Amino acid sequence: MPELGAFMRHRSVRKYRDDPIPEETIKGLVACAQGAATSSNLQLYSLISVQDPGRREEIAKRCDNYEHIKTCSWFFGFFADHYRLKHLAAKVGEKAEGLGYVEFYTMAVIDAALAAERMVCAAEALGIGICYIGALRNDAQFIKENFGLPEGLFGVFGLCLGWPEEGSTAEIKPRLRQEAIWFREKYDLDPPTEEYDERMKSFHLSQGMNAGVTWSMRSGRRVDRDHLTGREVLKGWLEGQGFNLE
Ligand SMILES: Cc1cc2nc3c(=O)[nH]c(=O)nc-3n(C[C@H](O)[C@H](O)[C@H](O)COP(=O)(O)O)c2cc1C
Repeated sequence: MPELGAFMRHRSVRKYRDDPIPEETIKGLVACAQGAATSSNLQLYSLISVQDPGRREEIAKRCDNYEHIKTCSWFFGFFADHYRLKHLAAKVGEKAEGLGYVEFYTMAVIDAALAAERMVCAAEALGIGICYIGALRNDAQFIKENFGLPEGLFGVFGLCLGWPEEGSTAEIKPRLRQEAIWFREKYDLDPPTEEYDERMKSFHLSQGMNAGVTWSMRSGRRVDRDHLTGREVLKGWLEGQGFNLE
């Protein structure tokens, strides 16, 4: 199925050439993002691009000091957005009280993610490299202030876009076998994941990375209490930001 090839070449790109992505191209990519399916057509997300180098620097500082935030051609924040709907609902005399439930928080996060991934697929089809930035959630309050967000917005992740550096050695990262993520009829309580450690070990060796720590170990550590990088406060912060999570 050669048509699917374009969808199997994804790899995160963190080093970029200097040449910019033209604004016209970005407008096309935003149109692609908007073409994503969206829950009840509510379109509960917004994008904010940041091109000012000073602001990129400040944002990078709060996001694990990622160089790629500073060096990418375009940087976007993707936001779960209840504000716009609440605002327009008020104009037609609706209180939008349902937005206080966790269901609508989930919906907004899904909408933001679907729009972003649609943009990513389109960008990659043009040869543009991308990297998501979950570290945008490390300091949600800083992001609120830096982006001038009203209540009802939450920075779900950032997205770097740029032309991949010439001669990049970043390879496509292996994934779990289909049998470990796609089950037939019922869930499998012991999905086949062991062989993936071996494949990831070879991948890490080929990339000159530390292969001594297996993917299972690495992933287990990633979800211990010490690796929340500031995000442990998110529930309380979200509630203060108008996402009541009832
Ligand atoms: C929502 C999300 C957040 C991510 N956050 C970061 C990040 O903060 N910094 C980073 O360098 N990569 C980030 N990534 C990239 C992942 O590390 C990467 O997708 C994963 O290791 C798989 O590698 P691949 O994208 O090259 O296939 C993120 C990816 C996703 C989907």
